[in-house]
Formats: sequence, C-alpha cells, structure tokens
Amino acid sequence: MKQPSEIKPAKGKLGVLLPGFGAVATTFVAGVEAARRGLAKPIGSLTQMQTIRLGKRTDNNTPLIKDFVPLAGLEDLVFGTWDPIPDDGYKSAVTAGVLHKEQHLDPIKDFLSGIKPMPAAFSTKYVKKLEGTNVKQAANKKELAEALREDIRKFKADNKCDRLVMVWCGSTEIYVRPSAVHETLEAFEKGMVEDHPDIAPSQLYAYAALMEGVPYANGAPNLSADFGAFETLAREKGVPICGKDFKTGQTLMKTILAPGFKTRMLGLSGWFSTNILGNRDGEVLDDPESFKTKEVSKLGVLEHILQPEVYPELYGNMYHKVRINYYPPRGDNKEGWDNIDIFGWMGYPMQIKVDFLCRDSILAAPIVLDLALFLDLASRAGMGGIQEWLSFYFKSPQTAPGLYPEHDIFIQHWKLKNTLRWMMGEDAVTHLGVEYYD
Ligand SMILES: NC(=O)c1ccc[n+]([C@@H]2O[C@H](COP(=O)([O-])OP(=O)(O)OC[C@H]3O[C@@H](n4cnc5c(N)ncnc54)[C@H](O)[C@@H]3O)[C@@H](O)[C@H]2O)c1
Repeated sequence: MKQPSEIKPAKGKLGVLLPGFGAVATTFVAGVEAARRGLAKPIGSLTQMQTIRLGKRTDNNTPLIKDFVPLAGLEDLVFGTWDPIPDDGYKSAVTAGVLHKEQHLDPIKDFLSGIKPMPAAFSTKYVKKLEGTNVKQAANKKELAEALREDIRKFKADNKCDRLVMVWCGSTEIYVRPSAVHETLEAFEKGMVEDHPDIAPSQLYAYAALMEGVPYANGAPNLSADFGAFETLAREKGVPICGKDFKTGQTLMKTILAPGFKTRMLGLSGWFSTNILGNRDGEVLDDPESFKTKEVSKLGVLEHILQPEVYPELYGNMYHKVRINYYPPRGDNKEGWDNIDIFGWMGYPMQIKVDFLCRDSILAAPIVLDLALFLDLASRAGMGGIQEWLSFYFKSPQTAPGLYPEHDIFIQHWKLKNTLRWMMGEDAVTHLGVEYYD
C-alpha cells in the first residue's frame, strides 16, 4: 500500500449505512445523537477520546487523534438502515433494551423515530430464528443487489451526502465456506443470477457497497466481504474494507489476557468460556448453524496469540471451549464466565476466574463509530482494499491472503496508531528509546 500523498478534507455530510437496525446499531445511533446534544459522552471511542504521541517522549506532543487526522465530525453524520423488522429507531431501541428509556431514549425520541429501515435483502434460510415483513421481493439475488445499489444512490442524493460508509450490524448468518462462486467477480455475478445457495444476504450488501464505491466493514462473523473476489474488487476500485465480527465482551478480555500470559511465558492447559445472554442476537445464536459461524470466529483467537506450534510445551495441549446460552431474562446484559487453567514454574497449576458482567452493545457502539470514521479517512487517503490496521476492532481480522491475523490487542493498537502516523507523514513510534540515554 502506498503512503498517501494527500488526504482529501472531510467536508460535507457522511452517510453511515447500517444493514441491521437492532441492539448495536440503535445504541450507536442514539449515542452519537446524545453526544451531539451534550447529553452523554462517547466513551470507548478512540476517534473521540484518545490521544496520539508524536515524536519523542520529551517533545510533549500528544494531540487528540481527531485533531491529528482529518475525521468527519459527529455533527456531519447521517444514518440510513435496512432491517426486515420495520421498527423505527425509537421502537427498535426500546425493544433492544440496552439504553434506559426515560433517561436516554425519550429525550431523543424525535430523532430516533425519524430513522426508518429500508426493506431488507433478507432470507430466513440464512437467519433461521427471525421472521420479517420489511423485505425486498426480487426475481433473483442479482436483482436484490441492484435494488440495494439503488437504495444507496437514493439515500446519498436525498440526504445530500458527500460520502458514504457501510457497517454491517445485521444478525449472524449460518456458516458459509468460501467456494468457487467467491473466487472471481464473474463467478459471483453469475451465482447471484442463479440464486447460488452460498451467496448470503450480507454478501449482497457488501457487493452493493463495493460497486457503489462505499467502504465496507463487517461487524458479524459472516463471510460477507471476506473472500477473493471482493478483496480484488475492493483493491481495484480503491474501496477500503475490513472485518469480521466486532471484538467485544469475552473475546475482548481474551485478547487482553492471553498476550499477558504469553509475554510472561506462562503455560495454558485450558480455557473454558461460557455466556448467558438474552437479546435478539442471543436468540439468533441459539440456532446451531448461526452459532457455528460465531464459534469459528471466537475460537481462532487463542491459537493465533499463543502460537502452540512455536511453544508446544506451553500451549501444545490447551483445551479451548466456547459456549453461548440463550437466557432471555438477561437481555443485552450478558454474563460471560471464563475458567482459565494456567501453569508456571516447574509446571505448577494455577486458575484464574473471570466473571464479566458486560453490556455487549455498549462495547460495540463505539466500534461502529470508529470504523465509520476511520474507513472514511482511509477512503479519502486513497487506501483501497483490506485495512489490516483496523484489526483492533475485530474478532476475526481480515488480512491479505496467506498472512496470519494479528489478534494481540496491544500489537493491534500499536499498529493502528502507527498507521495514523504513517498516513500523516510522521515517524512511527518503535518504543526503542535508546536515544534518551546518549
Ligand atoms: N453486540 C455485540 O457486542 C456484538 C459483538 C460482535 C458481533 N456482533 C454482531 O453484530 C450483529 C448485530 O448484533 P445485535 O446485538 O445488534 O443483534 P440484533 O439481533 O439486535 O440486531 C440485528 C438486526 O439485524 C437484522 N437483520 C438480520 N438479517 C438482516 C438482513 N439481511 N438485512 C438487514 N437486517 C438484517 C435483524 O432483524 C436485527 O434487527 C450480530 O451479527 C452480532 O453477532 C455483536
């Protein structure tokens, strides 16, 4: 990837397109509006709250990221959504039950009720536990994709947007492996006309986005844009893409803790993770085929961080198990338990128990915001194709073919900030620091 010679300014409106207007998407949109009205703070968002060091530690130059790189402002964001469930933003947010109705939703009811989802490209074949009435009808998948492209163009014109980005916040679809239909654009387009079963709706949104030059991030573990034909298309059209599966909750904790064990050369014999959650996402994941997609995404993390092939004595025999249990009383307030069996000096065993009473959508919403703003930045900087520097936000980071993903959150974070420095022509921070001792 070439270093950007210039970054176009973030002028005008940025349309944020959200396929899926459930818990995560409504929490994101409501939080942006609350921040705009001074009612809440965008906590958890690097683009809004984090600083970046430039130059030496002795230079004392640490601006906010948003003052260092030219990002769209919150006031310039407008939102467009699709969902098979026709609820407007207020109704959907109340149903999701993430945000307090009287305290946080009622004060912005006018704004939230004004966002109504467009009819979705949706099929219960790919998300078994949902029924929807707000669904597009078309002769085949190609026509569905063309209808989505038309929605994108219309949204842009109606809202007088300068630029658009799309972040998939839809349900987790059944597990689909990349097949011949995903190898080339020609095969994919032919497959859409023939209604190929390996082409799930999320791929149609990704196709529509790429064809319209709209950067695309995938917040779920579905294949969506993570295959050869779309990687090539994104590179050729200069459109940034990234995914998959927002890194929140238990996996966030895993990628914080596991690098710690490894840096101290502590062994790991087992990691058992179980969750109870009761939101719509939990219900969808109750279907074994959707859970399989999620499980693959969650299980990969430890292998990549701990490298059992490099450290067979420490990690060669680890047993890793992940369970998600649908338990309605908990709603979006998930509980994730981890039992971690580690061992130290001379092989002596120890145990760590983590009980994370977390709020999934509260952790996911700032990720949606940062991805929207950083993808737009990448696009204005002329950086097309896979944006590996955004791995920080994902459970299954998309990487160049043949390159293993980096899961260690600290390496991901370092990479993200160094990419911002590189984009702006600043020196990378290596933390070597020998110059302070000359
Ligand atoms: N909440 C988190 O922290 C978190 C973390 C990682 C990944 N995710 C993923 O993000 C996605 C959204 O999570 P959520 O908690 O908001 O779930 P949710 O069930 O509340 O919302 C998902 C919405 O997507 C809609 N949908 C399904 N298929 C669609 C389609 N083809 N087109 C348009 N809309 C469609 C559903 O009707 C639903 O309203 C899920 O796939 C979830 O696995 C969430």
